[in-house]
Amino acid sequence: MGIAYQEEKRIFTLETASTTYQFQVDAYGFLIHLYYGKKVSGDMDYLLTYYDRGFSGNPYDVQGDRTYSLDALPQEFPERGTGDFRVTVLTVQNGDGSYCCDLRYKSHKITDGKYGLEGLPAVYASDTEAQTLEVLLEDPVTKVQAVLLYGVLPEYDIITRSVRIANGGPDRIYVNKAASACLDFLDGEYDMISFYGRHAMERNFQRTPIHHGKQAVRSSRGASSHQYNPAVILARPNTDEKSGGCYGMVFVYSGNFECEIEKDQFNQTRAIMGLSEAFFSYPLDEGETFVIPETVLTYSDQGFGRLSRNLHRCFRRHLCRGRYRDQVRPILVNSWEADYFHFTGESICRLAKEAAGLGVEMLVLDDGWFGKRDDDNSSLGDWTVNEEKLGCTMGELIRRVNDLGLKFGIWIEPEMISEDSDLYRAHPDWALKIPRRNPIRARNQLVLDFSRKEIRDHVFDAICAVLDQGNVEYIKWDMNRSINDVYSWSGREHGRLLYDYVLGVYDFLERLIQRYPDMLIEGCCGGGGRFDAGMLYYAPQIWCSDNTDAIDRLEIQYGTSFIYPASSIGAHVSAVPNHQTGRITPMRTRGIVAMAGTFGYELDFGRLSEDEKREVRLQVEAYHKYAPLIQNGDYYRLTNPQTDEVGAWAFVSEDKKDVLISAVMIRRHGNMTVNYIRLQGLAPEKIYRDEKTGKSYSGAALMEAGIPLPIEEGEYLAYQMYLRQ
Ligand code: GLA
Repeated sequence: MGIAYQEEKRIFTLETASTTYQFQVDAYGFLIHLYYGKKVSGDMDYLLTYYDRGFSGNPYDVQGDRTYSLDALPQEFPERGTGDFRVTVLTVQNGDGSYCCDLRYKSHKITDGKYGLEGLPAVYASDTEAQTLEVLLEDPVTKVQAVLLYGVLPEYDIITRSVRIANGGPDRIYVNKAASACLDFLDGEYDMISFYGRHAMERNFQRTPIHHGKQAVRSSRGASSHQYNPAVILARPNTDEKSGGCYGMVFVYSGNFECEIEKDQFNQTRAIMGLSEAFFSYPLDEGETFVIPETVLTYSDQGFGRLSRNLHRCFRRHLCRGRYRDQVRPILVNSWEADYFHFTGESICRLAKEAAGLGVEMLVLDDGWFGKRDDDNSSLGDWTVNEEKLGCTMGELIRRVNDLGLKFGIWIEPEMISEDSDLYRAHPDWALKIPRRNPIRARNQLVLDFSRKEIRDHVFDAICAVLDQGNVEYIKWDMNRSINDVYSWSGREHGRLLYDYVLGVYDFLERLIQRYPDMLIEGCCGGGGRFDAGMLYYAPQIWCSDNTDAIDRLEIQYGTSFIYPASSIGAHVSAVPNHQTGRITPMRTRGIVAMAGTFGYELDFGRLSEDEKREVRLQVEAYHKYAPLIQNGDYYRLTNPQTDEVGAWAFVSEDKKDVLISAVMIRRHGNMTVNYIRLQGLAPEKIYRDEKTGKSYSGAALMEAGIPLPIEEGEYLAYQMYLRQ
């Protein structure tokens, strides 16, 4: 397993436990993709066919061979201008204004360990866990170089790709399009699975057949977005949860992206993942380099379930970092839906006291503690504590919360600036806005130019001054608008601004992590507007959605689970009627749904009945018991809540001994029929015992025949079952 190079035919084989990825340097120095999929042996170059195809051009140096066209051949890194008219991964504008980049093989290097990326998030692994292949390509005319980076994590069935573009020539060039991964399939039908949504309804699963033409998902909003997630699955049409072949492509980046899939004239499918072309044109002078963010690839021949578990394991252990990577996260209560902006130091302490009495472990003070912010119209950028509102200093508040036995966490939104702020009055040119035009407002706020270090430094110092006032153990990092006005007053070229902005965000986060290595960071962007693999490198958990309705959450968390592990999914119990939908669900149901992620509360305990408080105590107890399994176990989707009567999922420990089943009745009817939950991933020959009822079942029975859910009266009832071998 790992990376092998076959000298004679110049074939690279990247092998993982269950998959093979192969490509070849051909006679002309082009990198021709040969195969990616279930493990095979031997050379796959026999798959290539050559025919004279009308209107598909031939490189000059093939010397009149009209059967050789890059418009028809599968490739590793197809560039614009080489006679390939499909979607391509790289467009370079040269010093002479032309759009051509003709990259040919120069050399390669295989090393132990996994490459890292300067200033960008990337999967990491030790020398024994991974190998790296670097392939150097060069355009003989312009001396533009590309180093294709491949990381192979054999045990995880994961292959990563990234690219370093370097300008080795004297003229300035512009990189106008840059994608890091390309999957070329010679034949076959595929479905595209993507995750679309909107604020408060993110990552809905969507499956469509790939047809001739281009299908794409993208973000041009500056962040990866609520609207489309930077992750796509390509699946054979017969693929389901348990069987069939499917490929995952996940972009490890938090800004504009585009995944394009094209079925070409010869019924070949190409999928590429990379940066969006929107607002993008990156200048490179002689000697400068540009890194295309990483794409994580995985293949499963056992359906979507296996694909998700490959990604989950990789992200949990080789992308998330820090003290909390493997640790159960504290149960928190967040002040947002409890009080919104209308809190005082006293009310926060009351909430903390109630929380402590119920076993909650951390209080998070959300928006509204700084400047003069009592609504969302002012003060972003003024990171000074509103002591008048708190009735004390931040240090005192933190101490009081700590004295009640709770950790303390705080909300920040560092990338933003309100026009009504001292910061804006002092530095109006720190906001992104276009000269002679009024900026687009969103939530009445503007975006700070985080591509500029002096601006990041200022905000960093101001926020650290608050964090240093006490024992702050958690940060919720929010970002509450899309970026529209792509103009920097620093003179920075606009075509690089949004990429540099994202690297600025990463730089800020990295500095926070270095300074506060034990701090837990939770990502957030109006809920799940920046829920991506890039953020997971800095924040092991991300607030999944501003929608806390348990029934909507079934669908949101279902979609999210295809790519991201439960340990990264921020999920809270909130009050009813739910603040986003008005729906009333039982407290128990809300708890069970929130236990599919990093568990917490988002309500005023003071307004709960004694019965509800009893339920909270049970939930806290249950979460403590199940959290290690939820955090580290394998995740199985058992139903599809978009279409089924029941939403059901299970966590199974890697040794298959512990199983936590959760099920929520979504629809109720008169004279109900019985729903059976069929499990997956158990040891068929072993006996599992339901801890509560004492009943025993064989693993095979649970997987083949399932377990009946009771028929009970009531809406949205939920069940949790814990089974052990
Ligand atoms: C965003 C977040 C919420 C909350 C508010 C505060 O919408 O997603 O959880 O923090 O901002 O303004």
